[in-house]
Amino acid sequence: MTDPVFDTAVTRAFGCRLPIVAGGLMWLSDASYVAAGARAGIMSFITAASFPDPAVLRAEIAKCRALSGDRPFGVNISMLPKLVEGENIADIFRLIADEGIRFVETSGRNPEAFMPILKQAGITVLHKVPSVRYALKAQAVGVDMVSIVGAECGGHPGLDLIGSMVNQALAERDLDIPFLIGGGIGTGSQIIAALACGASGVVVGTRFLVAEEVTAHDGYKQALVAASERDTTLTMSSVRNTVRTLCNETTEMVKQLEADDPNIGIAALMPHVSGAIGRKAYETGDVSRGMLSAGQSLGLTDRIAPLADIVAQLEQEAQTALSRLRPHQTATQHAEAITS
Ligand SMILES: Cc1cc2nc3c(=O)[nH]c(=O)nc-3n(C[C@H](O)[C@H](O)[C@H](O)COP(=O)(O)O)c2cc1C
Repeated sequence: MTDPVFDTAVTRAFGCRLPIVAGGLMWLSDASYVAAGARAGIMSFITAASFPDPAVLRAEIAKCRALSGDRPFGVNISMLPKLVEGENIADIFRLIADEGIRFVETSGRNPEAFMPILKQAGITVLHKVPSVRYALKAQAVGVDMVSIVGAECGGHPGLDLIGSMVNQALAERDLDIPFLIGGGIGTGSQIIAALACGASGVVVGTRFLVAEEVTAHDGYKQALVAASERDTTLTMSSVRNTVRTLCNETTEMVKQLEADDPNIGIAALMPHVSGAIGRKAYETGDVSRGMLSAGQSLGLTDRIAPLADIVAQLEQEAQTALSRLRPHQTATQHAEAITS
């Protein structure tokens, strides 16, 4: 039975067992990974941008439905800076509404323009932001929940680089809608810490990259297991698109280029940072080149394992954290104590 401490606005809105969201992972959040999340009792999102052909996206959704046994999952629409040349984000929202998808994770841009389409379709919108000031804007345009993903995260930590500890304290103070905390979450005790700060759940990316169901070369996952919390770096702030990735030849080169010319611009960086190079690393396992999004919780990616096992470990660690807080109570008594 799930501990009542995990019964939150997130589990109620998504219909999942645990208040854990596997945030969309470009090129990696496919049916295999997302369905594994659904089966493990968490909420996961297919990244629409990984499937630019609408027919292929529809097929991936159908495959995920079959693999997940109709358990809940959603679609991630990442709007930073744009999906593909000639994209029409509104068309993608219409496609997923037409497919009967009930949950979306949006990110990268204010979703205000698309809220009418989403709300008309009865879709629950979880919008991802890097800090509370953007969360307040998202709340004002009517999203249902926000994920606040701090400086430690893999991918885009925003320009302010606010850490998750401060984000969660500010969110508790300032927000009215349910919020999730992400950025550096890799153990169950951090989940308890987030819930204690008023979060309704957590968002995880990096910790799940070593899941067996992630469709990537074993060499890539072994490299993540070997990496520590010190093996990521921030680049691309010169083009206001700061990204945290695994340290490698590409990040060294990009850092040098940005140091040499702070006004270098995206066109000159593109030959090094294009998503196609990173995608190749996932296929070949050669992590020496490409912008490979990864966060500081690499210090906690200790083995390649089925996603369900990683989730079970998080749950166990969360229980241990609860009993540490209240050594003489069972976790259930503790949950009753804090909800009464
Ligand atoms: C490899 C990778 C790819 C990602 N791709 C996306 C994406 O396409 N869209 C998105 O909204 N977030 C993306 N993210 C961010 C994650 O969804 C999540 O918010 C973040 O990883 C949480 O922080 P953590 O890495 O510290 O767990 C990506 C993160 C990683 C590590």
